[in-house]
Amino acid sequence: MRLIIQTINLTKRYGKLVALNNLQLNIEEGECFGYIGPNGAGKTTTIKILSTLLQPTWGEARVCGHVVGYESRKIRPLIGYVPDFFGAYEDMVVQEYLEFFASAYGITGKQRKKVVGDVLELTDLTGKIDALVDSLSRGMQQRLSVARVLLHDPKVLLLDEPASGLDPRARIEMRELLKELRNMGKTIIISSHILHELAELCTTVGIIEQGEMIFHGPIGEIIRRVKTGTKLHVRVTEQMDLAALTLEKSEGVKGVEIHNGDLLVELKEHTRDYSSIARLLLRNNFRIQEIREEEINLETAFMRLTKGIVQ
Ligand SMILES: Nc1ncnc2c1ncn2[C@@H]1O[C@H](COP(=O)(O)OP(=O)(O)OP(=O)(O)O)[C@@H](O)[C@H]1O
Ligand SMILES: [Mg+2]
Repeated sequence: MRLIIQTINLTKRYGKLVALNNLQLNIEEGECFGYIGPNGAGKTTTIKILSTLLQPTWGEARVCGHVVGYESRKIRPLIGYVPDFFGAYEDMVVQEYLEFFASAYGITGKQRKKVVGDVLELTDLTGKIDALVDSLSRGMQQRLSVARVLLHDPKVLLLDEPASGLDPRARIEMRELLKELRNMGKTIIISSHILHELAELCTTVGIIEQGEMIFHGPIGEIIRRVKTGTKLHVRVTEQMDLAALTLEKSEGVKGVEIHNGDLLVELKEHTRDYSSIARLLLRNNFRIQEIREEEINLETAFMRLTKGIVQ
């Protein structure tokens, strides 16, 4: 597979502050990479360097093989960068706004009309073609921001928190739009704090903290890494306390708590098979309503990794 993004010892300092510290990042063609990290971790700095807007202090960043700085002009037509804040273009209507940017990319005449129409359709903004940019809702402005970077049909999309500040419906719409772009084969880097949304969208994730990548890999792997013991949610129809006592005595069980009408059963490490739990309850005539394994989601994984619980 072809490497689209590659950073080698990428370091960025702002005065004494080290915003990125020897960052190694490899992203392959067609990958949708979720970039996660607490405030100030260095996400925006990385994305700005890849967008050729900032220069590294040390090390190298390459986009499609071209080096940021030396070959920025070759990189720019290949990327679409959506910043974390939407710049103000108050007195332009949507069509003018997009035509302005299309011209900046050298798209003219009939082709420009067609391209503008296409991106409006893709971002579901056709109905707003004559609306003032300033009059659009935040969600629509974010979509317009994405529409703008699609005009020149870039291979790589660099999106800095495109769903921040959006209401749940707008977030879902944004996610669907990004899925569509992913399915079109674009390579996407997306930073976000909305972790469960990344889980659905991204193929890989990277977690950065204080300028250092503390995890990089497939989402499934991150979850496996933070998962220590299995926890079960068990629900019985009656006599919950008695069921808790019964389970506590079972061999594979580390501890039992009652939480929100569920028995939270923590299994001993390396116990993966929990059929014995069900058998024990049935043998003692409890009626089981539900047994399910607690899922470790990306949110939990993120909290554990960034607190240094998992090395
Ligand atoms: N222009 C600048 N001058 C000085 N320091 C800066 C500048 N830009 C960023 N920093 C610092 O660099 C570090 C990384 O910032 P960055 O914006 O990359 O973080 P981030 O991960 O995008 O955070 P957030 O989640 O809040 O957007 C922070 O400590 C920040 O204060
Ligand atoms: Mg940021």
